Amino acid sequence: MKIAIGCDHAAFEMKAHLVEMLKGKDIEVLDFGTNGPDSVDYPDFAAKVSESVLSGESERGILICGTGLGMSMAANKFRGIRAALCSEPVSARLSREHNDSNVLCMGARMIGTVMAGEIVSTWLKTPFEGGRHQGRVEKITALWSESKGS
Ligand code: RB5
Repeated sequence: MKIAIGCDHAAFEMKAHLVEMLKGKDIEVLDFGTNGPDSVDYPDFAAKVSESVLSGESERGILICGTGLGMSMAANKFRGIRAALCSEPVSARLSREHNDSNVLCMGARMIGTVMAGEIVSTWLKTPFEGGRHQGRVEKITALWSESKGS
């Protein structure tokens, strides 16, 4: 599996930890930064990871900022991205089983690195259940075309 990962300045240490963890699981990692404490804008990194997933360059993405909120809001603007903000493993599992989440968002100021690792491990190994959830996920995608907002 190939995973795209990105973060802002609030989360570069957590990202470094997760990159090592993923490599230890023999997962190929596309690291879009950022890699230090200098202030950056989270939408730029949400865009890079979302575009990587949508183009097929990577299978799924992980985005981390201070709260995970900005990253999830930004990633969900991309048609075909289903970004799930998770702070514990049960939501991560259900976001895969029911929602076929293709981007996982977390808040580095909200949870510790051990919890983040558990969330990522659960999210990576959980398949989409399909069945009754398939049509619902398709309806999420259809909302992009139906939305009248500006
Ligand atoms: C950066 O200070 C912070 O706003 C960002 O990491 C994130 O929490 C936004 O949602």
